[in-house]
Amino acid sequence: MVRVGVRERIAAAETPELVGQEIMLAGWVQARRNMGKIVFIDLRDSSGVVQIVFGSALKRGSELLKTLRPEYVVRVIGLVTKRQSGQENPDLATGTVEVQAQILEILNQAETPPFEIGHDRPVGEDIRLRFRYLDLRNRRMLNNLTLRHKVWQFIRNYLTDRRFLEVETPFLTKGTPEGAREYIVPARHYPGKFYILPQSPQQFKQLLMVAGIERYFQIVRCFRDEDTRGDRQPEFTQLDLEMSFIEQADVLNLLESLLVALIKAVTPEKTISHLPFPRITYAEAIKKYQTDKPDLRRDKTNSNELAFAFIVDWPLFEFSATEGKLVPMHHLFTSPRDEDVKLLTRSPDKARSKQHDLVLNGFEIGGGSIRIHQADVQRQVFEALKLSATEVEKRFGHMLEAFRYGAPPHGGIALGLDRLLAILANEPNIREVIAFPKTGDGRDLMMGAPSELPDQQLREAHITIRKAPS
Ligand code: AMO
Repeated sequence: MVRVGVRERIAAAETPELVGQEIMLAGWVQARRNMGKIVFIDLRDSSGVVQIVFGSALKRGSELLKTLRPEYVVRVIGLVTKRQSGQENPDLATGTVEVQAQILEILNQAETPPFEIGHDRPVGEDIRLRFRYLDLRNRRMLNNLTLRHKVWQFIRNYLTDRRFLEVETPFLTKGTPEGAREYIVPARHYPGKFYILPQSPQQFKQLLMVAGIERYFQIVRCFRDEDTRGDRQPEFTQLDLEMSFIEQADVLNLLESLLVALIKAVTPEKTISHLPFPRITYAEAIKKYQTDKPDLRRDKTNSNELAFAFIVDWPLFEFSATEGKLVPMHHLFTSPRDEDVKLLTRSPDKARSKQHDLVLNGFEIGGGSIRIHQADVQRQVFEALKLSATEVEKRFGHMLEAFRYGAPPHGGIALGLDRLLAILANEPNIREVIAFPKTGDGRDLMMGAPSELPDQQLREAHITIRKAPS
């Protein structure tokens, strides 16, 4: 007699190698086909799907068969057999075999799901996001999460091998100027004061350079309260990195070799059209392509073509009509080009910077720069931006203070990993490569966020809600 619970569970994908063996499987009923005396089910687990046959070999659980419905959770013990010739299913990785069930157990029942799982029929995105845990049962989503994991793992190993240290930086912090609106968190113990969720670890990574870390990276969540689009989420993930004692070319070369190696390892079916990645000046890009995110693919219909390019020599500042003054094109720690430092006092609008963006197939997937590490250059930038000494002290006093204690020359970049992944996975938007994304209008339909808070919680956070004008 076969004893359930003692035996090791086999993954559905392993069955083709186990012909002739008695095995135990567990998973979800993806489909059930009733053929009179014989019943077939497609059993799905995280590794794939395998066909189970309930026929004359079934010794226990036959009375349960007629109650089986899609998404029931079951355990099956049975014999792996080769399918008869002509019965193979070339669409299924396990399509050469099936499992002749001997024992069936129902581990849990399931309500009828709001959409079919494991089929390619289109389902509205709102319902997919509302029941994301069901949507994630689909192979496409599992493949995307698997690719995501492989990319993370590859990057960590690659950078670790090159003496980078992954360092975590705080989420509850003070604003960092990246240009987007920030999410704010009330500080319960300090009425009227707030933490800010970081738009990026920018200031911390520069402080880590002052700390002597020299080669830092972090796969890190960033928060930006901006209008959401297909390639934007309120929280998204960056590969953030920073290095000391380097030039701009070192950052670009590192990124290029990392990406070439990554693509070879995780998506070998892709081809990179231009190697080395072209380095195009901002002025050239605008003149030649009328955009700072040119799509350099030779064949734009080929989903396996990847065309990277670095855009360099950006203007240091741009004029903001809303603020009526110059604002940084990137952020205010970005260094001017050496030959343009003298322009800071005379004609700052003409100064070019050591900013670099990385574009892929017409999307901006990364941005960074060589930073200012000399106090007098930083002061000239603040002056060109017409920031008062008090404002500078209040917002950046801690940075200027740190820079007085021996800041090394440094620079870095951050890659938008969700954007990179969406392109590698041939997905139309970044929501498809994030396990629990927000909708286009920034809501989490599954958890019901954002939500109201009980009065008590608001009181503790010193918040009074103003009635919306009717
Ligand atoms: P930047 O602001 O250019 O640079 O951001 C780097 C990359 O992050 C991605 N990104 C986003 N992805 C999804 N949703 C968003 N809302 C979103 N916003 C940005 C983009 C972008 O290229 N601290 C600097 C980096 C540095 O200077 O080293 C920074 O964050 O792909």
